[in-house]
Amino acid sequence: MKICCVCGARPNFMKISAVIAAAEPQPELECVLVHTGQHYDERMSKLMFKDLGLPRPDFNLEVGSASHAVQTAEVMVRFEPVLVDLQPDLVLVVGDVNSSLACSLVAVKLGVPVGHVEAGLRSFDRGMPEELNRVATDALSDLLFVSEASGVDNLRREGAPQDNVFFVGNVMIDTLLRNRHRAEESRVLERVGVEPGDYAVLTLHRPSNVDDPATLGGLIDALEEISLRFPVVFPVHPRTVQRLDELGLRERLHGIPGIRLIEPQGYLDFLKLMADARLVLTDSGGIQEEATVLRVPCLTLRRNTERPATLESGWNRLVGTDRREVLAGFEAVIGTPTGASTAPELWDGRAGERIARVLIELGVPGLRRLQAARGIAPSSGPGPLPD
Ligand code: UD1
Repeated sequence: MKICCVCGARPNFMKISAVIAAAEPQPELECVLVHTGQHYDERMSKLMFKDLGLPRPDFNLEVGSASHAVQTAEVMVRFEPVLVDLQPDLVLVVGDVNSSLACSLVAVKLGVPVGHVEAGLRSFDRGMPEELNRVATDALSDLLFVSEASGVDNLRREGAPQDNVFFVGNVMIDTLLRNRHRAEESRVLERVGVEPGDYAVLTLHRPSNVDDPATLGGLIDALEEISLRFPVVFPVHPRTVQRLDELGLRERLHGIPGIRLIEPQGYLDFLKLMADARLVLTDSGGIQEEATVLRVPCLTLRRNTERPATLESGWNRLVGTDRREVLAGFEAVIGTPTGASTAPELWDGRAGERIARVLIELGVPGLRRLQAARGIAPSSGPGPLPD
């Protein structure tokens, strides 16, 4: 089975890495790696590839940054000829970024089966671009690989055929567990000048948090107060750097002694930063999951999460962006953390293996059967490019 594995943005790299690692030893599975180039910086992409030991992509579409429409369309335009040329048996997309949606749409229209890793997650907030990408990608996909129980319920409610849904666990956690010992060797704490268990680590990049001056200003107020208790280490995402400049907030942030602004970190350094932190503050999706498994209290600076298993574990708490609520959440978790001692179901480091097993057991005829169950007439593969 020839599998075209797609990745595009930073959180995709650790997910696809788990799938490739599990497929590699299997003679029945051949992976071809396509990087769309949605993230392209040295620190957002190349460093991640290096840390994760990912092979050099077979194709790099180099789409770069643009508006949602232009970026999504550009991925589609550049992916189509690659797919026609490759003639894979399956396109595998991960996560919820623009690249995931763009490549699924191209594939289904060419009659190539699509597998979505991390299917079924829902924040029920259509103001988030990722939620739109999730709903649309799942509607298009033939194989729905689900990371947590809520995903199975959501897909059932939306009417996905049950034969197409596979509860396999969380590939992001596979990668975390596989790399945890390597991360122990990182010297990032010394470089930043913090002590284990005595700092918070912060990430912030969601448009809803960083594009609005009032929201971002309120968050900075809350973070300043937290930084009086212990240092807050803040690797700043490029989008956030831009917004801080545009909104004239960079100086204010620089003026707060307890907040340590650093560049985006590689996978291993960031893993070490999270693992040794007293507290994680984030608006990311994946970091909520990683903190849960590392058993570090996490305050999620959002009103909702598509990952309720992290809340049920007790390690994650939604605190929104209002200064008072963030500080109340901080006081609540900083005393005695009371999370579960076991990880959510199937977050055991073997999700990639389960995906590989499903693919081997299905074989190409099985993929075509699942395509038919979705209402797509099986075809002999991608046709020629239109003029
Ligand atoms: C994207 C994903 C988001 C994911 C996040 C992780 C979508 C809709 N969003 O958001 O789900 O959580 O990645 O980081 O797909 N930029 C650089 N260098 C880079 C990449 C981006 O400077 O390598 C800057 C660009 O100016 C760009 C901005 O960051 O305009 C945003 O990048 P983009 O890929 O559009 O979205 P993210 O906010 O990173």
